[in-house]
Amino acid sequence: MLLKIEDLDVSFRNDEGEVTQAAIDVNLTLERGEVLGIVGESGSGKSSVSMSVARLLPSPPAFYPKGRILLDGVDTLTMPLANLRKLRGKRIGVVFQDPMGSLSPLHRIGDQLVETILLHEQMSKAAARAHALEWLGKVGIPDPEQRALAYPHELSGGMQQRVMIAMGLMLGPDLVIADEPTTALDVTIQAQVLRLMKRLHQANSGVLLITHDLGVVSQMATKLAVMKNGRVVETADDPAEFFENPKHPYSKELVGEARKMELET
Ligand SMILES: Nc1ncnc2c1ncn2[C@@H]1O[C@H](COP(=O)(O)OP(=O)(O)OP(=O)(O)O)[C@@H](O)[C@H]1O
Ligand SMILES: [Mg+2]
Repeated sequence: MLLKIEDLDVSFRNDEGEVTQAAIDVNLTLERGEVLGIVGESGSGKSSVSMSVARLLPSPPAFYPKGRILLDGVDTLTMPLANLRKLRGKRIGVVFQDPMGSLSPLHRIGDQLVETILLHEQMSKAAARAHALEWLGKVGIPDPEQRALAYPHELSGGMQQRVMIAMGLMLGPDLVIADEPTTALDVTIQAQVLRLMKRLHQANSGVLLITHDLGVVSQMATKLAVMKNGRVVETADDPAEFFENPKHPYSKELVGEARKMELET
């Protein structure tokens, strides 16, 4: 089992000591080769769960009252930070919604990719550079040599997101976490970027795909989980079957809304 989330609670404590329960009793599994789509309304806990996997939530305010997150059997919640850092980027690749929040504004994109590669791989700088340029090309960035010199703000949102995808996938991670990877993009570009992700992640990796867009799930996911108010209210091993026959009232609502949107467009 690549990923096993067991009885996970994720909470936040603010300065006044008040606690928000972002995720409650979450159980999810992901095998290599699977794409698990997590859907649910804003604030339902999707990001809290997915970010916890690589312990990317700032802690405090985040804390974990209970549960385990087993990556190939090893709990990432209790693993020493040094070990975790080695996993991030290498065994766990992350593609965030907001590229400007995750790329450094101060460094050229090529340098940022090269630095990440050198952090994890025993490689010469020249080889790392070649690898970075190769990936910029793979994610559809025209003229990679030239574009590698750009700073993030010099690229369009779609191009920035492509850089994030290169960053998340270029080291061939076992687990890819994509949190709303296309939400910030134009609808036409969304489809392109999704196709890219589908094509470029290794066939034997597992993908955790967070989205509020059921259309994205139906295109990409091999199984899905619906979250509401911090809880997983329904899981389905067959998205097509889920769309035909959602069980939980909230799932029915979601599918109904998605159908309506489809008819309107
Ligand atoms: N850093 C934080 N500090 C305090 N509360 C937080 C923090 N991050 C998230 N929360 C709270 O945790 C709950 C779950 O939020 P989360 O971001 O996981 O939801 P989400 O499903 O990813 O929503 P969205 O679709 O808007 O991204 C919400 O009530 C949110 O307000
Ligand atoms: Mg979120």
